[in-house]
Amino acid sequence: MTTAALSSAIASPLATEHLHLHYGKSAIIAGLDLQLPAGKVIAIVGPNGCGKSTLLAGLARLHQPAAGQVLLNGRDINRLPSRDVARQLALLPQNTQAPDGMTAYELIQFGRQPHQGLLRQWSAEDHQLVERALAAADITELAHRPLDEMSGGQRQRAWIAMAIAQSTPLLLLDEPTSALDLGHQIEVFELIRQLSAQEGKTVVMVVHDLSCACRYADHLIAMHQGRVVAQGQPAQIVTEALVEQLYGVRCTLLPDPLSGTPVIVGLSRV
Ligand SMILES: Nc1ncnc2c1ncn2[C@@H]1O[C@H](COP(=O)(O)OP(=O)(O)OP(=O)(O)O)[C@@H](O)[C@H]1O
Ligand SMILES: [Mg+2]
Repeated sequence: MTTAALSSAIASPLATEHLHLHYGKSAIIAGLDLQLPAGKVIAIVGPNGCGKSTLLAGLARLHQPAAGQVLLNGRDINRLPSRDVARQLALLPQNTQAPDGMTAYELIQFGRQPHQGLLRQWSAEDHQLVERALAAADITELAHRPLDEMSGGQRQRAWIAMAIAQSTPLLLLDEPTSALDLGHQIEVFELIRQLSAQEGKTVVMVVHDLSCACRYADHLIAMHQGRVVAQGQPAQIVTEALVEQLYGVRCTLLPDPLSGTPVIVGLSRV
């Protein structure tokens, strides 16, 4: 790595250096160099199977690299103690599974675990942060209901609350709004923007709705077949040609009347 590349990777809270992620013999991510901008909302978009979840799992240390590395604050994430990583980075996976009968409150309490220890037991501050996360995800009234007795969207909001309660500077969210109704989708996207603007968090979210990604992200990463094909400010990189390259569809882009960001309309298969 050159000195310039090294200092830029250190400035980024989360970066990859020639990262290779495989399942068995199949290479999903091959030689990825990525630097996530600090304090921004970053959306990863791309078609089904292009490697978004695999990349997020790699960034969160759940998938060991076949080669290359993930740098958390400039240090190889695989050499850091688990507790240090969990205090820096929270992941909401695409497919979540909680033990039978676990309530939302119990799940969200898990988010506080990296902050406990021999000398630091459950505190009033932990309780407050759990209550705040419940309110932020709009599930206070469901706090003591088992997750397996909730609707898909309610359960998804409980998991979002758990990630928020972990109080990490980095949040990785894999399709956080996939099961949510329109009102709760907007609420979650606005919450993400607020966490970034007010608390300086870096949020990485995988989002399928390209118009929403353009509206709520500062930085867009477009993936295709395990590679980053474009990245930058949404309004600068999203073109009709990019949409066709990613999804094999023709579209028209119009400016959103409120935000001015691109809205994708008039789709047809190529
Ligand atoms: N556990 C696994 N074992 C083997 N191959 C896998 C496994 N999980 C995913 N894959 C394959 O890796 C590739 C990337 O999958 P990944 O889940 O990262 O895609 P994605 O971009 O998140 O897609 P989606 O939009 O459908 O969530 C796909 O071809 C998929 O079939
Ligand atoms: Mg996925």
